[in-house]
Amino acid sequence: MNSELNDDNDIIMSLSKVGKKYGQNTALHPIDFELERGEVHVLFGENGAGKSTLISLIAGANKPSSGQINYDGKNVAFSSVKEARLLGICAVFQEFSLVPQLTVADNMFLGHELSSGYVLDKAAMNDKANAVLNELEFDLTADQIVGELPRAGQQMVEIAKAFCANVSVLILDEPTASLTEHETEQLFRLVNKLKSQGVGIIYITHRMAEIRQISDRVTVLRDGLLIGRLNTCDLDEDSLVEMMTGGSASDVFPNVESTAGNIMFEVSNLSSELGIDDISLHVKQGEIVGLAGLIGSGKSEFAQVCYGLAPKTQGQIKVCAKDISVATPSTLIEAGLYYCSPDRHDSGLVIDASIGHNLTLSALKTNEFSFDYSYVLKGGNERQRINTLMKRLRIKADDSHHLVNSLSGGNQQKVLLAKALSRQFEVFIFDEPTVGVDVATRKVIYQFIAELCQQGAAILLISSDLPEIIHLTHRAYVFCEGQIAVHLEKEQINEQSVLSHFFAKGEAA
Ligand SMILES: Nc1ncnc2c1ncn2[C@@H]1O[C@H](COP(=O)(O)OP(=O)(O)OP(=O)(O)O)[C@@H](O)[C@H]1O
Ligand SMILES: [Mg+2]
Repeated sequence: MNSELNDDNDIIMSLSKVGKKYGQNTALHPIDFELERGEVHVLFGENGAGKSTLISLIAGANKPSSGQINYDGKNVAFSSVKEARLLGICAVFQEFSLVPQLTVADNMFLGHELSSGYVLDKAAMNDKANAVLNELEFDLTADQIVGELPRAGQQMVEIAKAFCANVSVLILDEPTASLTEHETEQLFRLVNKLKSQGVGIIYITHRMAEIRQISDRVTVLRDGLLIGRLNTCDLDEDSLVEMMTGGSASDVFPNVESTAGNIMFEVSNLSSELGIDDISLHVKQGEIVGLAGLIGSGKSEFAQVCYGLAPKTQGQIKVCAKDISVATPSTLIEAGLYYCSPDRHDSGLVIDASIGHNLTLSALKTNEFSFDYSYVLKGGNERQRINTLMKRLRIKADDSHHLVNSLSGGNQQKVLLAKALSRQFEVFIFDEPTVGVDVATRKVIYQFIAELCQQGAAILLISSDLPEIIHLTHRAYVFCEGQIAVHLEKEQINEQSVLSHFFAKGEAA
């Protein structure tokens, strides 16, 4: 569509030489960028390429270090997100900005509350919020407390928030990272509706299929530089990946032979009030076992109960043949189990601490890093280990002293995974390990999981990404409504066999 749009009236926003520096570091070199009315413009690029930085400048969350933004024919300089929002520029950021104690409706209208006279019009806000949620077909109600929702629910609130205001420019930074296919489809339907109303949409995603499905143009960034721009209809995936990485990223999935040995992780008849009902499963040395299922099917909750983050009502957990009678994170770590949370902020990383501190936190008490009977650390060993881990997972930062919250989303994810190597573990539970990471990093993460398996680790891979289950696992359990719907051997794992068990009998797929 954009080939015919050359008229200046069709441009809702243009950036001229807009860049951003943090101290000496350049997050975004000065770039030009244009957004047309009624187009979906994807920003694509590796982790740390500068995508979130670019949108933070457009949405008023950060001030550019250079350049000029022109919006609707006028030069603008926003001092806050609210100011941009009042002018019709609305962003759904990668990291949430919700107030957990407030309701869904309160959050959706935060900063632009509806009132009647001097009094807040709660009823009107609830009605409007429910109408937006219904249109999106999100399974939420206006009066729910946001802090009690799972991550996927909170992501839906962030999205719904953007649809409450009158928008001319909508910015979505990886909005589908925790959504199911159905919710994603509804979101795309609304995106298309806004598009037909002339709204300009900037969309960040690492998913190739989404680019094809909804975008008109793609702008590729690498290392804070503009690499190129193409129309989606001319897009060829290999060249897009090449533009992104500067090389090719073929064969993303490694071939991992199973060398299954003794049972290292065994769960019997586990139930919990989190909706887990009588689950029994096991993982052997040298094998990768998948847990598939919809968000809310119980697969993630199962891992939380196993790791002692939520109480069990019955059942038994064994790690390395040892009964874990009281499951707490520290007893499980001592027993040799590593758990990688799906939510790097809530229970994975200390984001206000440095990369280095995060990487060795769970191992500081071991002999490798501290002298016996004292609180003195072996600083040399710690530094050496930190450097090795940063290189192994290609964590993009000049220095391990940088705070984790100054890293891009995907690089934070790599820090979370690298923690798995900080000490000796026999059993690994990875819950959604590749959320928000680029194709090249995916490859690094899969290789890393494959190597752990080849070295004899027992790995439980919980994933909503079907190709991960199909290509990486040796056996898989499919969860549905808190129970195991089916157990599949390697040769039985395919899209059809997994998907057909996602839904309870009688429910439409
Ligand atoms: N507050 C900050 N202080 C210092 N550096 C920062 C800050 N925010 C971002 N950066 C740096 O800017 C660069 C670009 O980061 P940005 O978050 O824009 O990447 P991204 O393309 O969104 O990546 P991802 O796909 O991982 O989300 C990174 O090197 C990051 O470390
Ligand atoms: Mg980002």
